[in-house]
Amino acid sequence: MDLFSPAERYLQDFHARRPGATSAAFSALPATTKSRTYKSSYEVLAAVVRDLPLPSTVLDVGCGDGHLLGLLDKASNSSTLIGVDLSDGELNVARRTLPSHVLLLRERAQQMSLASESIDVVVSHMALMLMDDIESVLSEIHRVLVSGGKLAGIVGRTFLLGPLHPCAPQAKRCAHCGNL
Ligand SMILES: C[S@@+](CC[C@H](N)C(=O)[O-])C[C@H]1O[C@@H](n2cnc3c(N)ncnc32)[C@H](O)[C@@H]1O
Repeated sequence: MDLFSPAERYLQDFHARRPGATSAAFSALPATTKSRTYKSSYEVLAAVVRDLPLPSTVLDVGCGDGHLLGLLDKASNSSTLIGVDLSDGELNVARRTLPSHVLLLRERAQQMSLASESIDVVVSHMALMLMDDIESVLSEIHRVLVSGGKLAGIVGRTFLLGPLHPCAPQAKRCAHCGNL
C-alpha cells in the first residue's frame, strides 16, 4: 500500500525537482507584524523560539530544506532541533547544510514517530496549508507537544488561489507554484 496520498506524491515530485524553492522565495522577503518588521517570515518564527527560556526542544513541521532550523540553530544552540518532512529532495538539502545534531525525519506530519509530550515548541513555515487531513496533523502536533507547549505557524493562501493547472505528470506548468 502506498503510504502517501496523490497530493503528497505530487508535493514529493515538486520538491524533488525544485528543492529550496520556498526558502529562495521567502528568505529575503521582509515580513511585517502588528509590532515590527522582520527580515523575513522565517525570522518571525525564529523570534518566537528566541524568546523562550532555554533549553527547549523545537520541532519544525514541513521543514523543507531546513532554512528555519538553520536560523534557530544560530539563534539558540542549546535547543534540541528536529525537522519532519516527507520530501527526500528537501531533506537531502537540509542534511547537507545543517549541522549533524539537527535531527531530520522523513515522515508524514499526520503520523510522526516522536514520543508524546516530547516537544516544547512546534514551528511551521508555509507548510500546514499544503497538508492533507489537517485535523490529523493538528492532533499529532497536540500529541507531541508538552502540556502548555506552543505552536507557531505561518501559512500562505494567495499562491494557492491562483489559476488551476493540471496536476498530471505530463503537466507543462506546475499547479503548486505556476512555474514551468
Ligand atoms: C512550501 S514547502 C515549505 C518548506 C519550509 N517550511 C520552508 O518554508 O522553507 C512545504 C513543505 O511541507 C512538506 N509537507 C507537505 N505535506 C507534508 C506532510 N503531510 N508531512 C510532512 N511534510 C509535508 C513538503 O514536503 C514541503 O517541504
